[in-house]
Amino acid sequence: MTALATERALRFGDFLKFLPTEAAESFNKAKDLPNQIKGFGLNLRILPVPVVDLFVWMDLYHLTLGKHGLTNSFLAELVIDDLNKSEPRLGFNLTPNQQIGIVAGSTLHDLGQLTFTRSMIEEKEKPLDSDENRIRLKHPAIGAYIFWENTPTDSIPMDLKKTVTAAILYHQLDYGSVNDEIIDSIKLREVIPGLPSIKQVKYRKVAVIVSLIDTAVSVLENRKNHNGDPPKKLRGILDRRIGKIKRYFSKFEDFIEEEIKLYYRVKNIILRYRQSLYTNLIAFDREFDEKV
Ligand SMILES: [Fe+2]
Repeated sequence: MTALATERALRFGDFLKFLPTEAAESFNKAKDLPNQIKGFGLNLRILPVPVVDLFVWMDLYHLTLGKHGLTNSFLAELVIDDLNKSEPRLGFNLTPNQQIGIVAGSTLHDLGQLTFTRSMIEEKEKPLDSDENRIRLKHPAIGAYIFWENTPTDSIPMDLKKTVTAAILYHQLDYGSVNDEIIDSIKLREVIPGLPSIKQVKYRKVAVIVSLIDTAVSVLENRKNHNGDPPKKLRGILDRRIGKIKRYFSKFEDFIEEEIKLYYRVKNIILRYRQSLYTNLIAFDREFDEKV
C-alpha cells in the first residue's frame, strides 16, 4: 500500500461505517491496487493522483458509476478543447485550474453515490422509498465531503481542490435550495473552511459546465425513458436548464450576460458531439452485454 493510500485509509476509518458494505469493500480493493493499473483512459497528465484513486473506487463499486464518470470526463475534455479554440475576446477564457476542475469534477461528480446501495444504482427507474430518496438528495454534499477529506493538501493546489469540491457540490443544480438545506444539516461549512459557494462566479462557472455535461450524458445514457430520439431532445433540455440558471443567477451581484453566453457556447459544443457520443454508448452497452 502506498503512503498516500495508508493515509487515506486512516482518514476513512470513521467514514466507512456509513457506507453500504459493498462500497466499503470496493474501497479496500481500490487502495490496494498497484498504481500502474489505475487510471484506465483518464487523462493522467492533468488529473491529480487522488482524483484517479477516488475514481478507481467508484469504478470498482459499480461499473455504471465508472462508465458514467468516464463518459462525462471524455465529453469534458472535448468541451475544454473547443472552448480553448474560441475567440478569447468573447470572454470564454477559463484558467488552467478551472479547466482541470471541469475534467476532474466531471469524473468525480457522482462520488457521493458511493452511499447508494447497488440496487439504487442499478434500478434507476424504480421509485425510491423515502430513506433512499433522502440518501439520493445528499449525494452532492456527501461527495464534496468525501473528496475534501481524501485530498491531502500537498497532493493538489488549494484553489483546484476548492474548484473540484464546488463542481461536486453543485453538479445537481436542479436540487435548488434543498442542496443548501442539506449543506447546513450536515454542517459542511464546519468541515470545509471557506466552503465554495454558487455565488462565487469562478466556482459556479465550473459547476454549471460540469452540470450541463452531466445532464447531456444522463439523457443519452437513459434511452429507455425517451420515446423520441434522445440526441434530438437534448437541445430543448439544455436550453430549458440554461434558462433556469439565468433566472437564478441574475440575482447575484457579480452576474453578467457573458456568463450565460459561455453556457450557450458549451451547449452548442455538446450538441456537436451528441450523435457520436450516443452511438458510442450504444456500442459499449452491446459489447458489455455480449461479455456478460
Ligand atoms: Fe449526480
